[in-house]
Amino acid sequence: MIIRPSKKKPLVLRMVVLIIAVASSIYICSICLRQIGGRSAGSSSPSIRVVQKPCEEAKDHILPSEKPYVHFPKPNTFSRKECACNPVRYFAILSTQRSGSGWFETLLNSHVNISSNGEIFSVKVRRNNISTILETLDSVYNLDWISSASKNECTAAVGLKWMLNQGLMQHHEEIADYFNSKGVSAIFLFRRNFLRRMVSILGNSYDQKTKPLNGTHKSHVHSTHEAEILARYKPTIDTKLLIPDLEQVEDLVTRSLQYFNSTRHIILYYESIRNNRTKLVDVQEFLKVPQRNLTSLQVKIHKGALSSQIENWEEVKRTLKGTRYERFLEDDYKVDM
Ligand SMILES: *[C@@H]1O[C@H](CO)[C@@H](O)[C@H](O)[C@H]1NC(C)=O
Ligand SMILES: *[C@@H]1O[C@H](CO)[C@@H](O)[C@H](O)[C@H]1NC(C)=O
Ligand SMILES: *[C@@H]1O[C@H](CO)[C@@H](O)[C@H](O)[C@H]1NC(C)=O
Ligand SMILES: *[C@@H]1O[C@H](CO)[C@@H](O)[C@H](O)[C@H]1NC(C)=O
Ligand SMILES: *[C@@H]1O[C@H](CO)[C@@H](O)[C@H](O)[C@H]1NC(C)=O
Ligand SMILES: *[C@@H]1O[C@H](CO)[C@@H](O)[C@H](O)[C@H]1NC(C)=O
Repeated sequence: MIIRPSKKKPLVLRMVVLIIAVASSIYICSICLRQIGGRSAGSSSPSIRVVQKPCEEAKDHILPSEKPYVHFPKPNTFSRKECACNPVRYFAILSTQRSGSGWFETLLNSHVNISSNGEIFSVKVRRNNISTILETLDSVYNLDWISSASKNECTAAVGLKWMLNQGLMQHHEEIADYFNSKGVSAIFLFRRNFLRRMVSILGNSYDQKTKPLNGTHKSHVHSTHEAEILARYKPTIDTKLLIPDLEQVEDLVTRSLQYFNSTRHIILYYESIRNNRTKLVDVQEFLKVPQRNLTSLQVKIHKGALSSQIENWEEVKRTLKGTRYERFLEDDYKVDM
């Protein structure tokens, strides 16, 4: 117990220093190796991947219940730089044509940390078969899909807009599995009033054919003047097909909710967002992005009473009276842009 000065002490000290020096150099070398591994990640050597443990600290701050939904993608096409360890969430807007999803997407993309890459699967080859679909999704969620909406390094939520008739229903089992295994959240966006949606579809296809805006077709417009011109067209609805058409849309929506029921999801209605901007707070909470005031420059084409937008209004009214779709006739919403 008594500490006695001894001649051995300098030797012991020297040994300790030597051991520390060796240990430090091994540590430094291992860090160097990791960094080299990181730079050549493209060559994807599996042994180096195992050694790599980036963003450990960021991962420690994530609640266990959130873990399946949080990702740290390493894009092949660019470096995430200062945001490399910012968590990223995956989403998909599941919708039907003319249900306000274009407008909704411009709102999301006005957020500095959200990248919604548009209707990627409107291009047929990308939805040819389930392999091309999953490959495309992989590229989007790895942040390697470059579109005008990509915010790249500081994206905190990345996704796309996907129409139910773009391979989604056809391959629903594989896609739901993919969503669940990759932690993709679904944002269902529907229009409550299918009759108004029908007017929008007919108007849009009329515009596609006649192009009243100086010979260009525009699905969405950015000025009230353009909106007025497009709204001048009043479609005549085929009342023989009206009920079957409405039933078909209703069935499609119901089935899509069943197919993706096991996926983390939120259900939104175009009309509710129009009338209550607090819904956009819900969406941002759902995506776990910082709250922002979202904005869009798009102008609504069809405004006001439905009766003034349909050529054969009386006939349509008679057809829907007494059916469960009668509410679509009255469902007038007080909209101001
Ligand atoms: C899927 O489609 C792609 C592109 O058309 C094609 O190259 C590939 O062979 C197809 N794969 C299967 C499994 O059919
Ligand atoms: C959002 O983007 C900003 C600006 O690019 C960035 O500073 C911030 O860290 C990002 N936030 C998240 C949660 O990724
Ligand atoms: C067509 O173009 C002219 C000149 O560029 C412009 O003044 C006019 O407003 C345009 N009309 C529509 C319907 O966009
Ligand atoms: C989804 O599943 C839950 C429970 O499994 C059920 O209560 C709910 O009605 C289902 N929703 C839809 C839209 O099918
Ligand atoms: C608007 O939406 C919020 C969030 O969903 C909800 O709590 C609130 O009750 C809604 N307000 C009205 C007037 O419907
Ligand atoms: C959003 O805008 C309102 C008023 O228009 C303002 O009071 C609020 O602070 C803004 N919120 C954010 C997150 O910028």
